[in-house]
Amino acid sequence: MLYPQFPPGFRFGMATSAYQIEGAADGKSSSIWDTFTARPGTVRHGEDGRVAIDHYHRYAEDVEHIAAAGVHDYRFSFSWTRVQSDPAFYDRLVDAILEAGVRPVPTLYHWDLPQDLEDAGGWMNRDTAYRLADYAGTLVSRLGDRVRDWITMNEMSVHTLYGYALTDHAPGRGLGLAALPAAHHQLLAHGLAVQALRAGGAGSVGVANQHFPVSPASDDPADVAAAGLFADLTNWMFSDPLLRGEYPNEMIQAEIGDPRDLEVISAPLDFYGVNYYEPTMIEAPRAGKDYSGVLEVDIPEGLPFSPVPVKSDERTDFGWAIVPSGLTEILTTLRDRYPNLPPVLITENGASFHDAGPGPDGRIRDHQRIAFLEAHLQAVAAAQEAGVRVDGYYVWSALDNFEWAAGFDERFGLVHVDRETLARTRKDSWYWYRDLIAAQRRS
Ligand code: FCB
Repeated sequence: MLYPQFPPGFRFGMATSAYQIEGAADGKSSSIWDTFTARPGTVRHGEDGRVAIDHYHRYAEDVEHIAAAGVHDYRFSFSWTRVQSDPAFYDRLVDAILEAGVRPVPTLYHWDLPQDLEDAGGWMNRDTAYRLADYAGTLVSRLGDRVRDWITMNEMSVHTLYGYALTDHAPGRGLGLAALPAAHHQLLAHGLAVQALRAGGAGSVGVANQHFPVSPASDDPADVAAAGLFADLTNWMFSDPLLRGEYPNEMIQAEIGDPRDLEVISAPLDFYGVNYYEPTMIEAPRAGKDYSGVLEVDIPEGLPFSPVPVKSDERTDFGWAIVPSGLTEILTTLRDRYPNLPPVLITENGASFHDAGPGPDGRIRDHQRIAFLEAHLQAVAAAQEAGVRVDGYYVWSALDNFEWAAGFDERFGLVHVDRETLARTRKDSWYWYRDLIAAQRRS
């Protein structure tokens, strides 16, 4: 078997997030995801993360599954409300990760805002940015002796779009373009958190942003303009402020671009995290045309862009187009757009296939996931050949988990989790990833 090869020092990892795996919801106060999932009709089958995959109680076994694959890094996130009431859990978790010989790479914020902060305005309230910086300070003073690498925020774009502009994720505000301040305040939170982490002695600080190529459905100038605006709102609005100290267009700049904040937001980073899943194709809305079901969430009528299906023969079981070359393309685009781009880490990439549980021989033959991961790793190697510095790649996800509004049907894990018994079983992709890591030349 031939495995894609990466330069010595390249870091392989796996990723998860707190709300999607921890459960043990009664041990802490509510986050916006507890509130959102309790509302009828928000999540497929009415599922929620109260138990999730019970990682809170099974973390030792989970860390073993992660470490046994030979990964260098494990990316997880803190639950803000658990940090408030039960921070010792993260001492235990970090100690277990380190003892297993893996580097912990925690994310401060992966979408689970404390409900009391949401009640005070959530990310629409500037003060939330300062609360996040305080929380960053608490964490670095508690764990900074053992954790070197920190990720501030996860996918501010998806949180803004799905949670504040639309109603598909918590907190489900549905504000449309009026949600722009939620983007700005998260970016400010990132900048303030970078300051707090550095003041607390953090060795390496970065962010995890979702990025994907956006192409117009045709050369028609209206389609090109629609795609450009969509790319601004989903990609560049979250990277230009960090890497250029400005917003990508005048409308956004005029709305939210305070120059003093932009200075804080654009503080230098040690690495830049890219989460990649699929590209998007956009056209200017055609009157009377039905655009529903193209993306995971529907863009309401009245906005000046509409998604059309990306041309791709292959899709995951979540319906997402499989386009590995999109990862190479977005990486070279980032490098061309930002001459000062820090070393990139692929902080998430992976695929949902509806794997059945283990057969009589105990195996789970998820060959489609293996093909997906292999093709995307080749795409990373192609970007490296084109001169982009990529220092690592984390699979989303270590274990099957709660996939937000899609509930538990979508399985992204290298390790299968039985919905009834919560039993863990390593899939064939887990073994493949282990063997790929072992097959790297380390010098
Ligand atoms: C990303 C999220 C992550 C997971 C994957 C599939 O957008 O950051 O939590 O849901 O998608």
